[in-house]
This record gives sequence, structure tokens and C-alpha cells, in this order.
Amino acid sequence: MQREKFSIITYGCQMNVADSEVVVRILTKAGYEFTENLNDSDIIIFNSCTVRQHAEDRVVGRITQEGSRKKAKHNLLIGLIGCVAQRIGNELLNKIDSLDFVAGTDQYRNLPEIIEFAKLKNISNLQENYNENYEDIYPLRKKNVNAFVTIMRGCNNFCSYCIVPYVRGKERSRNFKAILSEVEKAGKNGFKDITLLGQNVNSYNFGKCNFAELLKKISKLSSIERIRFVTSHPKDLSDEVINVMANEEKICEHIHLPMQSGSDKILQSMNRKYTKTHYLKLVDKLRNSIPDIAITTDVMCGFPDETEKDFLETYDLMKKIKFDYTFTFKYSPRNGTAAEKFDNQIDEKIRLERLQKLINLQEKITLQKYKEQIGKSVKVYVENISKKDENEVSGRTCDNKIVVFSADKNLIGKFVKVKIYDAIGWTLKGKIYKR
Ligand code: 5AD
Ligand code: SF4
Repeated sequence: MQREKFSIITYGCQMNVADSEVVVRILTKAGYEFTENLNDSDIIIFNSCTVRQHAEDRVVGRITQEGSRKKAKHNLLIGLIGCVAQRIGNELLNKIDSLDFVAGTDQYRNLPEIIEFAKLKNISNLQENYNENYEDIYPLRKKNVNAFVTIMRGCNNFCSYCIVPYVRGKERSRNFKAILSEVEKAGKNGFKDITLLGQNVNSYNFGKCNFAELLKKISKLSSIERIRFVTSHPKDLSDEVINVMANEEKICEHIHLPMQSGSDKILQSMNRKYTKTHYLKLVDKLRNSIPDIAITTDVMCGFPDETEKDFLETYDLMKKIKFDYTFTFKYSPRNGTAAEKFDNQIDEKIRLERLQKLINLQEKITLQKYKEQIGKSVKVYVENISKKDENEVSGRTCDNKIVVFSADKNLIGKFVKVKIYDAIGWTLKGKIYKR
């Protein structure tokens, strides 16, 4: 008998990508076959982000659009999983005719049953108790040579703007033994560059193993060569972790350290629990301990009550620190969060103007930083065929910069030495000179 086929379309952060890989494993084990071809699919699953309203609107639009496939294929099922499903899954089931099932972030083990239910036109309940770590499930990675390894789920921080603690539940760390065995296996399967994932990796704690200890243990595994991690919270990044980063060769010279704002007033109202001075001290410590470290960040503008002066403090701090890259966001009110009810919500027009200023500033800084790379020889992990030219490949440096260069696609998954000769936007151009 032919196996039913499913596809997954993932939007959002690396955590969602990693979750989709868990789902691919669960459904494959249950007898379904994964396909990337939507025309071939009997089940199309969307896994989507809800951090900002825009992400949510996009997936709702896409589900409605893909629903037209049902005219030609009557038994096609369409499902929505992940953060949006967790937040408003029941509402969407009522609102979108073509949506057949939903499953929250901790319900993936039940997906085979949820799908069987949906075939009978029955609707399963959304679950709201969060305790799942998918401890024993080895993600089925379909693409590329980088492995995302989830080390913790959920978040206890309740930053006042953020929906994540409501849709992913309380923070829980995965057993370090399960993490080590997953990383080792990934390395043996050819994933030499791994990224440890959690909303707040610096508060990882399992028994006596904290994040610094975990990094040391993973560094000892011979099957992998590069270790990355996201996301670090400035209030929890310890000297111990900075020292491990400085001392362990395999830990990449890169940190993603969301700053969010340069105004102490706004940071406090965001419930971030650090000040601008603390953030600056961390940047100094990192740069003193790891001189070539690349620092990237998230910055938000237009948070309630952000005055022009507050905004300028953010702008000036970005100018001072000179991040290698900044993910810039305009504040998006999320239903149920504390900030949604704050006074002095900022006009959309002002939010957009401020966002554009931050984007323009970072573009200049990134280009300047990337131009400084010209002439350097870097070790690149080859990841993909270039999107623009199939005779070129793209890869990543230890400090997380993308390099494009002419090379055979057989080099994907290997390390090569590349000499940088140009920087275009946030892409470096290089020439291979030694294997
Ligand atoms: N509005 C805008 N940006 C947000 N982020 C999180 N919640 C919101 C929101 N409500 C941003 C933060 C976070 C990144 C992942 O998304 O900057 O670090
Ligand atoms: Fe959201 Fe803050 Fe948790 Fe990050 S640390 S997921 S911004 S609540």
C-alpha cells in the first residue's frame, strides 16, 4: 500500500525549524512519508511563529490560499501546529474552512492520532500543560549540514512584550545525557556545525549541569567541530560561560545577545532585568576575552512610552557598540501580554520611521564591519549551493558570516580555507585557496 505523504512549511525561528524536524520523525515513524512537493502531499502542515502579528497574518493568509487545493484533491488535510496554533488554534479552526487540525507546541507526539481524528472530521482539543521535552526523539533533518539541537524549552522571563512564555510554557531543561547523545549522533551523521537552542540558554540547568558545564561536555565530543548557541539573555550570561567560550576551541566566536533597547526606562518597562551599563559591561567583557568575537543582537523600537530621547539612546548605543548584525523590529502588541495594556502606545507611523532609521544605521555598520574582513583568510563550513549562481557555494565562518565563492558542490559539509576579496551587504565574497 502506498504511504500517505505529508509536507511541513515552517515559519519563524530556529526553534520552529527544530520542532518541525521532530515532527518529521514522529510522522515518519507513524508510517507517513515526507515530501517537499505540495502537489504530492496528502497532508500539508504549517508550523508558524506568533511573536509578531505580521508572522501570524502571513500564515493565516497562506492556509487560506493553499485551501484552494482541496477543489482538486478532496481528501487533502491542512493542519497548523506550533506557537500560532497554541495561541489561537481553536479560533482559527472555526474561522478558516480549509483548516482541518491544530496541535500546540507540546502535542507533537499525538499528531498521528490528531490526523486520524481529522480524517473522520473530528477535532482534537488543544493541550495546555507544558512538560514535553521530546527527550527520546532524534529529529529527522532533511536539509543542509547544520544541526539544531534543542537543549531547553519554554521561558520564565515574561518580558512584558513577549508572547513566548504563554505559548511555549514554563522553562525546562533537557537531560544533558540526551543532548550529548543527540549531538554525537548528529556529528557522526555529518552535521559538523551544531547550534544549541533555547529561549534562554544561559539558564540551562539539569541536576548539577549548568550551561557552562554543558558546553564543556559537548566540546569533548570528537564527532563535531563547531558549537553555536542561541539565545543568550544579558541578565544570565555568566563569566563562567564567557571563560568557556574563550577557552574551548570548538565554541564559535559569535554570540547573539538581544539588547532590545538602549534606554533604562524602556528596559525596565520591558521587564528585561538589566541596564544599559550592564549590557555595555558584558560587551566589553566579551570583546576582551574573545577579541575576534562577532556580536549580533535584537533591537526593538516603538515600545509603549518610547520617547524620541529613549529612541535616540537605542540608536546611539547601536552606533557605539557596532554590532556585526542587528535584527530590528518594531514593537507589535500581543494579546494577553503586559505591554499590550500599557499607556502611550506609539503610533504605527512613528514606529515605522524609527525602524527605518535603525535599519539604515545597521546597514552601514555591517558593511563597514564586513569590509574589514577583506584580505583575511577564513575557515568556512560549506553549507549550500548559492541561491544566485549554481557554480558557487555558500558557507559560514566561525564568527557566523556568510561567504560565497566558486567551488564544487561536493564540498558541502566540508571545511575549506577561503580568502575574502569583497563584501556586498552582509555577504562576503571569497576565493578558495586550500582544502
Ligand atoms: N514585538 C516586536 N518584536 C518582538 N520580539 C519579541 N516580541 C516582540 C513583539 N511583541 C522580538 C524581540 C526578540 C525577538 C526574537 O523578537 O526583539 O528578541
Ligand atoms: Fe520572550 Fe523574554 Fe523569554 Fe526571550 S527571554 S522568549 S523575549 S519572554
